Amino acid sequence: MVAAVAVSSSASKVAAVVMLLLLSSGCQAQLSSTFYASTCPNALSTIRTSIRSAIARERRMAASLIRLHFHDCFVQGCDASVLLDDSATVTSEKSVIQNANSARGFEVIDQAKSAVENICPGVVSCADILAVAARDASEYVGGPSWTVKLGRRDSTNGSPSLANRDLPRFTDSLESLISLFGTKGLSARDMVALSGSHTIGQAQCVTFRDRIYSNGSDIDAGFASTRRRNCPATPPNGNGNLAPLDLVTPNSFDNNYFKNLMQKKGLLQSDQVLFSGGSTDSIVSEYSRTPSTFSSDFASAMIKMGDIEPLTGSSGIIRRICSAVN
Ligand code: HEM
Repeated sequence: MVAAVAVSSSASKVAAVVMLLLLSSGCQAQLSSTFYASTCPNALSTIRTSIRSAIARERRMAASLIRLHFHDCFVQGCDASVLLDDSATVTSEKSVIQNANSARGFEVIDQAKSAVENICPGVVSCADILAVAARDASEYVGGPSWTVKLGRRDSTNGSPSLANRDLPRFTDSLESLISLFGTKGLSARDMVALSGSHTIGQAQCVTFRDRIYSNGSDIDAGFASTRRRNCPATPPNGNGNLAPLDLVTPNSFDNNYFKNLMQKKGLLQSDQVLFSGGSTDSIVSEYSRTPSTFSSDFASAMIKMGDIEPLTGSSGIIRRICSAVN
């Protein structure tokens, strides 16, 4: 009898834990790839057309859009907070150091949003448009594709203080990066895979100057000297001068980034720490040897990143214009 009571009480504890788990994961469970199937069946093709034409005009835009989705998701979840401008009720995240003069692609998201508003007003969120744009961008430049889960809603405010706290910096150590991504539910392996998006896009001299003039042993001397040509030693001279994050194939989404790291040719310090005798060296060398593993891990990590704390159900709003609340 006592045993039976013990069994039934532990069974009810298990049931309670399962209920709690279901409740706590409730938000994420609501995202679904068919979310707009009946309310806006042409949403995805409309976004895609808009994004593809923007990248056809400027190939770097693919990189900028992937980064924008990342900078959205890491700050109070994937809620399009990064897109908001300052207003009477909104404090924008655009001026924090990780975004200022650096985050770009806002007008491309605005164009995609207005194309979607033309066919289904007030239905598709800016946060979902960002997630779809990142996937379309990767695909367009030869990277992996994946099915985007949808149903995120938009925030009514930004948070510069959370942006400042939660967006990584190019001076971060490997331990800090692993721990920061960990707070978002992403593993060290996810972090390395996602950093692989530095296979495309550009960085400004101000972000890699210290590294190329360090004369340290963790940077290839020839690579440092090449990069110094367009990045003068004394700030603020040339602060905004650009260099490709992947020196070999800056316009294609491939696994060259990881090969560069193994040759000490990572542009940012936060790139090189991924291969510098630490715990992620083995992941970098695996991705450099096996592009298909990098591709599939990148796609899974992007899906995981897109799941970070979405607003769903009746939380948040569907903004009519991505840069402002309704
Ligand atoms: C691991 C920590 C990371 C750090 C410290 C970091 C830092 C940076 C910095 C400093 C730049 C150059 C910005 C500029 O000079 O204007 C950059 C560019 C970029 N980042 Fe990251 N990043 C990280 C992770 C990621 C992740 C997870 C993604 C995407 C999932 C990403 C995507 C990009 C892309 C695509 C660019 C090029 C953007 C463009 O050309 O417009 N980064 N990143």
